[in-house]
This record gives sequence, structure tokens and C-alpha cells, in this order.
Amino acid sequence: MKKVLVLYYSRSGNTEKMAKAVAEGAQSVNGVEVQLNYHVEPPELLGFDAIIVGAPTYRKEMPVEFKNLFDEAAAEGINLKGKIGGVFGSYGWSGEATKLVQEVMQSTFGMQVTEPPIDAKYIPDQKALDACRNLGKRVSESLMNHV
Ligand SMILES: Cc1cc2nc3c(=O)[nH]c(=O)nc-3n(C[C@H](O)[C@H](O)[C@H](O)COP(=O)(O)O)c2cc1C
Repeated sequence: MKKVLVLYYSRSGNTEKMAKAVAEGAQSVNGVEVQLNYHVEPPELLGFDAIIVGAPTYRKEMPVEFKNLFDEAAAEGINLKGKIGGVFGSYGWSGEATKLVQEVMQSTFGMQVTEPPIDAKYIPDQKALDACRNLGKRVSESLMNHV
């Protein structure tokens, strides 16, 4: 069984809607177990084959919870090299968070984030939710092809 974590932060529910769609897409592939969560401790990251992060932008930044998680994981030497990653998030006008998360996943942890982030302006519309479902599905499919 391959394991996918969909980790998200959401204050007003917009990124949460996206997270649920990502998780639904990831779960649609046989042989994959999905955990949808808003908090994990750094060592728990090691238990997943793929990590998809949902980060809304607040004050041009990623949520401080994720900043802390990544800082602590790096300080603890948590090795995520080669794990598959994905990023999505809601924003209002500038939308820095998803790019910042992608940068950390790639540069600090050496994760394979092959897809561009999915960004939705405020409440995700049907098109954005479909894109989220597809992201989850493609991540799961790539895990199954990686046996
Ligand atoms: C205090 C505050 C600061 C914000 N700062 C930004 C910002 O710097 N850039 C941006 O694109 N959106 C910003 N937004 C808009 C949020 O990203 C947007 O409302 C988003 O849909 C929130 O997602 P969530 O419901 O998942 O928390 C801000 C919203 C609030 C309330």
C-alpha cells in the first residue's frame, strides 16, 4: 500500500475545499491510502510516499505552521529526498504561498515536485476543483508506476 498525505491549512475553508478534492482524486487509485490532515509532526512525514501540501497565502507568506514544520524537519535531518510532492492553495491577489512551498520541497528536501502548483482565487470554482482532483490522481498514479 502506498501512502499519500494531503496536508493543508485553511482559515476560511477555501484551501480546505481544494484539499478534499485532491484527497478524493488520490484515493481514486487502487493501492493508495490517503490521509487528509492539517497537522503532522516532522517525523511523521517519513511515513508517506507522497506529500501534497495545500497552502493559502497570508501576508505574502506560507502559513507559519508550515514554515515551522519545514524548519523543524530540516533541523531534525528528516530525509524526504525523492518523495513525490504536489502543491495547491487559495489566494486573494498575490498568491506567493504555493511557490514558496514548492521551492522548499524541491530545494531544501530534494522532493520531486513535477507539476506546477494549482492556485485558486478565493473560493475554488469547478475548474479548480477538477484540477485538484486530477493532481491527486496523477500523484497516486505516479506512485503506482514507481513500484
Ligand atoms: C489577513 C489576510 C491577509 C491576506 N494576505 C494575502 C496576501 O498577501 N496575498 C494574497 O494573495 N492573498 C491574501 N489573502 C487572501 C487569502 O489568501 C484568501 O482569502 C484565501 O482564499 C484564504 O484561503 P483559506 O480559506 O484556505 O484560508 C489574505 C487574507 C487575509 C484575511
